[in-house]
Amino acid sequence: MNRKKPKILIVDDENLIIDLLVNLLKDDYKTVIAKSGEQALKRLNSGAILPDLVLLDIVMPEMNGFEVCRHLKGNDRTCDIPVIFLTAKNDQKTIVRVFEKGAADYVSKPFNPYELLARVKTHLERKKLLKEIKREKEYTDNILKSMGESLIVITLEGMIEFANEKTLKLLGYQLNELLGKEYTIVIPEALQGERNWVEEAINKGDINSIEKTFLTKNGQEIPVLLTGSLMNDYTEESKLIVCVAQNISERKASEKLEKEMMLKMLSVSKLATLGEVSTGVAHEINQPLTYINSLIQSMKIDIKDKKESSLMDHEEDLDIAYAQIKRITRIINHLKMFGRKDDSIFTTIRIEDVLSNTLLLMEKRVALKNIKLVRRVGHDLPELYGNEQQLEQVLINLLQNAMDSFEESTNNAIIEIVIKQDGSGNFVEISFSDNGSGMDNEIVDRIYEPFFTTKEVGKGTGVGLSIVYGIIRDHRGDIKCESRLGKGTTFLITLPAKN
Ligand SMILES: Nc1ncnc2c1ncn2[C@@H]1O[C@H](COP(=O)(O)OP(=O)(O)OP(=O)(O)O)[C@@H](O)[C@H]1O
Ligand SMILES: [Mg+2]
Repeated sequence: MNRKKPKILIVDDENLIIDLLVNLLKDDYKTVIAKSGEQALKRLNSGAILPDLVLLDIVMPEMNGFEVCRHLKGNDRTCDIPVIFLTAKNDQKTIVRVFEKGAADYVSKPFNPYELLARVKTHLERKKLLKEIKREKEYTDNILKSMGESLIVITLEGMIEFANEKTLKLLGYQLNELLGKEYTIVIPEALQGERNWVEEAINKGDINSIEKTFLTKNGQEIPVLLTGSLMNDYTEESKLIVCVAQNISERKASEKLEKEMMLKMLSVSKLATLGEVSTGVAHEINQPLTYINSLIQSMKIDIKDKKESSLMDHEEDLDIAYAQIKRITRIINHLKMFGRKDDSIFTTIRIEDVLSNTLLLMEKRVALKNIKLVRRVGHDLPELYGNEQQLEQVLINLLQNAMDSFEESTNNAIIEIVIKQDGSGNFVEISFSDNGSGMDNEIVDRIYEPFFTTKEVGKGTGVGLSIVYGIIRDHRGDIKCESRLGKGTTFLITLPAKN
């Protein structure tokens, strides 16, 4: 095997020593000789030779070994070359100086050939290893440099240990402005939803895609998706949190647009709903008004005829009329609220209230269509965090679809609404079923698409369920649909409890 022999520069002024060394080394190494310090430096500096190791005599006329070594270590090209001093003096002071000058080792003269060979071999291996480590570091540095995502490394004390080029570019900082600084300089707690995420990372061992906000040097906020994991630092004594941040500004902007669109659609659909519910509401108001009207007429007659006893008999009727007026007031107030615009504000709400408000507007219409409405609402349901009007819109849309799923002639039409909490108490489940027309799988696959409708022109616009889907997603909930053609349909909605 024709392996390239490592090159050793021997710097010594004594011919005897030079011959001895050349003889000793010639089998395994290529040797180059310089008979003085000046000669060695001249050849090294001109680039004529670049040895893998230098054997350097200390005592030489004019420039001694220490001086040569100082020049070697001060030059970028030669500073990594290991130097082994050859010294006749092995007193403490000399040895200390040897290492102070940056030498790798020393061998005392007269030297034991085996010892010298062993030391040369060790330092050449060490140099090779260092070179490999350096190359590996350059390799990882290049990977980090070319990485498309931002990478930031934080110590468990919350100090920035590293940030790659992408991060620096994104944030507008130089690396030295960030190193050793608290991570909150770029991820300020005040901008984050959840606190103590570093602690969380330490406890759980990793961070799973959480949304955070970066703050750039000039104060711009950038939404990012952060993933991270704990890693041993190279000393193995401590741990580091390695975070990869994906810039999600664009996604956020389009989500915002989508949300605005949804709110627009929501208000259009709400207007449509208001139009639709008006029939039921009119009926709801008309009946009691007729009753109240006839009661007033009959009381007027009694007053005119001064029939006091008869008037007394009306007391009970007045109570009924009063209750009816209260109900009418409630319906009107609710209609007013439902028409209002602040559809996006989330508060603490009770799903049972949402259901009774929905039914206040819809119950009569369902009854007029000869559909039996069954509702079963569990006790002690957990509170939700959400928007009442949006959720009411969900229930109205589902109710409207269920009503539309019955043929005019259907008898035994039933809509069943069941609300309960799940086993863990962390979710509320709303099951919404009808025994109407049902759908085949191809239709079920498309129901949440905006403007997908199977209804005739003028009857449906196809936005109902896409709105429902958007609202449930905004409430961090889930909606599923199960349907069988000719049998009926069930929507199952899961909403997370407030905490
Ligand atoms: N309970 C149901 N039973 C049978 N089919 C349903 C049911 N709910 C939804 N669908 C089907 O899903 C389609 C989409 O429903 P969606 O509510 O999005 O729109 P739409 O009711 O057609 O129109 P819009 O709600 O805008 O008035 C409906 O056209 C219908 O084919
Ligand atoms: Mg609909």
